[in-house]
Amino acid sequence: MASSVLISDTQPWKDLKAHVEDIKKTHLRNLLNDVKRSQAMTVEFDGLLLDYSRQCATVETLQKLLKLAEAASLKEKINRMFGGEHINSTENRSVLHVALRAPRDAAIQCDGKNVVPDVWEVLDKIQKFSESIRSGSWVGATGKVLKDVIAVGIGGSFLGPLFVHTALQTGHPDTFHRSASLFTFASRRTLYYPEAMEAAKGRQLHFLANVDPIDVARNIAGFNPETTLVVVVSKTFTTAETMLNARTLREWISSSLGPAAVAKHMVAVSTNLSLVEKFGIDPRNAFAFWDWVGGRYSVCSAVGVLPLSLQYGFSVVEKFLKGASSIDQHFYSTPFEKNIPVLLGLLSIWNVSFLGYPARVSMESNGKGVSIDGVILPFETGEIDFGEPGTNGQHSFYQLIHQGRVIPCDFIGVVKSQQPVYLKGEVVSNHDELMSNFFAQPDALAYGKHPEQLKKENVPEHLITHKTFTGNRPSLSLLLPSLNAYNIGQLLAIYEHRIAVEGFVWGINSFDQWGVELGKSLASQVRKQLNASRTKGQPVEGFNYSTTSLLTKYLEASKD
Ligand code: F6P
Repeated sequence: MASSVLISDTQPWKDLKAHVEDIKKTHLRNLLNDVKRSQAMTVEFDGLLLDYSRQCATVETLQKLLKLAEAASLKEKINRMFGGEHINSTENRSVLHVALRAPRDAAIQCDGKNVVPDVWEVLDKIQKFSESIRSGSWVGATGKVLKDVIAVGIGGSFLGPLFVHTALQTGHPDTFHRSASLFTFASRRTLYYPEAMEAAKGRQLHFLANVDPIDVARNIAGFNPETTLVVVVSKTFTTAETMLNARTLREWISSSLGPAAVAKHMVAVSTNLSLVEKFGIDPRNAFAFWDWVGGRYSVCSAVGVLPLSLQYGFSVVEKFLKGASSIDQHFYSTPFEKNIPVLLGLLSIWNVSFLGYPARVSMESNGKGVSIDGVILPFETGEIDFGEPGTNGQHSFYQLIHQGRVIPCDFIGVVKSQQPVYLKGEVVSNHDELMSNFFAQPDALAYGKHPEQLKKENVPEHLITHKTFTGNRPSLSLLLPSLNAYNIGQLLAIYEHRIAVEGFVWGINSFDQWGVELGKSLASQVRKQLNASRTKGQPVEGFNYSTTSLLTKYLEASKD
């Protein structure tokens, strides 16, 4: 397909537009009766199981989506990404987050250079540094072990690492041991004891992203600068929020331990090592990454690997990288009909562009309004993603997804809990209880509840409409063996690649974020105004009536 041709002008897109009318006449209640269809809509890879039989789609839909992938030159685009071409054309950059988790002996070219040795040089440096912190051979200015870490960063320099930390954390090991005496932990089965929990014993990892002073106060509450290491994580080392928070923590350290202590208590992760040095952090204590790593795809670089290695040890984080790498290989080499990220991406496109479902209970987004060639697009290119852990969603927004607008869901479950609890005398564990919902909700959404059924159950007439559920609401189920570092790496890579697949087919750039820049530049104008008003008494000008009034009020009221 010529790059200027919109995907919506191709024949496969038009075929899908026609096909969706047939699909709208079907119901998941009937589609799920077809065992062959269900079997065809299941994929297993490296311990993972994807079941997408509860998508409002047939085997024919899949065939047509694969044709769409072909029309979008999906395979070529994936190859170009892995080949280090500058597919992020608006920033003239390669997109090589896959190189961050490539095995040491792999070769991935970027601008004529194999970048894998550079990646491993930084990984080795992180391993050495994190071991010296964890073992206590590197101590703080007053000779104390640095057992606590505050990672300062925002956006991609925060959310990815926070996701992995949240998944690995699973409660403090001390709590685990204490509660073991109250309950029977996995008494009838082998105890699955995550090594990440053991490795984190006695250590704390906090993330500081928001520039709200309340967040700073919360993060340092209970932390002692003598035992704290601050990691400033910023690709550009210019992001306003991160730099302000970094200056605040630098002050927190130097006012309590003296300015020289900064060298022992602050390190950095950045692509901009000269700004790191200017800030006052010894470049020897800086961990580099590269402009071919997009901010939102940077968790496998030092952005995530450093703070996570400090907390869990390098060997745990290495497993996370290996999990991601396993999915990279799968994504690169598996035929599309069995390729998990490709299937997820194509099904998202099906839901958004053909069935017209604009949201998904999940994570991340594309959402560009222009094609990679700068053409205004006549279709939407992303979903509004949201979600909740466990059954929390069931007790909040599930009413909407069962009876209101149709919102396709991803259900992600694990076979083995990190902390299985079997209450004495009860056969069904807490984890079984949680997973009952993992299995039940997709069917509840797919089948719904018919008025006839309700009548048979003697539901009073006046409640029939209230208890009727249309069903036919798509979802997919992803079952992981457990939530260890390796599986978390797999999960992350699946969702990263799904975003890329969607972007490749829609013909947008999933690797830049010009939309965010607008908010940043407006905030910078306001910052300048606040400075000029406070220092020179300059009146508020250059804004509309509403913003001028609000700013004036704010300046007046914050004088005392
Ligand atoms: O949100 C936009 C963005 O540029 C992200 O890509 C990035 O992760 C975040 O801001 C923070 O930027 P930096 O890592 O340069 O501080």
